[in-house]
Amino acid sequence: MSRIAYVNGQYRPHRAAQIHIEDRGYQFADGIYEVMAVRGGVPLNVEHHLTRLRRSLGELRIEGAPGDGTLRTIVAEIIRRNRLRDGIVYIQITRGVATRDHAFPMGAAPAIVVTARRMKGVPAEVRQSGVRVKLVPDIRWGRCDIKSVSLLANVLAKQAAREAGAFEAWLVDDQGLVTEGSSTNAWIVDGEGNLVTRQLDNAILSGVTRRVLKELLVETGRTVIERPFSVAEASGAREAFLTSTTSQVLPVVIIDDHPIGDGRPGPVTRDLQHRFQEYAVMQR
Ligand code: PDD
Repeated sequence: MSRIAYVNGQYRPHRAAQIHIEDRGYQFADGIYEVMAVRGGVPLNVEHHLTRLRRSLGELRIEGAPGDGTLRTIVAEIIRRNRLRDGIVYIQITRGVATRDHAFPMGAAPAIVVTARRMKGVPAEVRQSGVRVKLVPDIRWGRCDIKSVSLLANVLAKQAAREAGAFEAWLVDDQGLVTEGSSTNAWIVDGEGNLVTRQLDNAILSGVTRRVLKELLVETGRTVIERPFSVAEASGAREAFLTSTTSQVLPVVIIDDHPIGDGRPGPVTRDLQHRFQEYAVMQR
């Protein structure tokens, strides 16, 4: 069965789906996106994703995008037309097509693309054993809270991690503080068993997985401390893990060449993996 993509009001065969060469997403990375997980044919956390999408559009002052109801319909339709059971839906909205000029164009309509893709997710053995992350300087811009398609620094960081045989890059600011991963949020467990993850500010993306996990943590009685943590603190942490739509909760067992704890996933991370898995199943 061939894949179907949604482009500006039309459902097209994926390989024939196109955007104009003067789309501002292409020329200026002037656009935003969302990635939603799909399990058993159902998109997860749609409300949270749409809230974040709306915020990103607002921050970039991109006007005229379809409303939440329309986007929900498109997401459902793209899942149906692709007969997607488990995978992701990708939504991208740019400021649209206009003659190249940095300032906002007058009267351009936003360009909307929605695609669906089968994805198995992180293999069970990797979830079990945990992953290594590589520390990379955070050279991104000052508004990482916007889920913009401007991801060049993230691309370079992920590639550096890949080339070092690591699963992810953890980005380090000029004060030696870990901000987040190249496409994930970063967490550690401190000596008292509290969870530490950076507060929501301009340096990180407000992850939907981070948000859901925080809600799930209320039941555990564990405290979440939202503050920056340093590389030294992460290296000496009891446990570390990362979160994202595609990775869910994934233990981090080595940072650069330094094992975390005893170098194996710890009990807190295991418990959270389990809780998140159950939550995802319940959403279906
Ligand atoms: N990445 N931080 C960054 C920089 C991200 O790009 C992402 C998501 C996250 C985690 O957010 P969430 O839990 O909502 O997935 C944190 C997506 C999956 C991507 O770019 O593919």
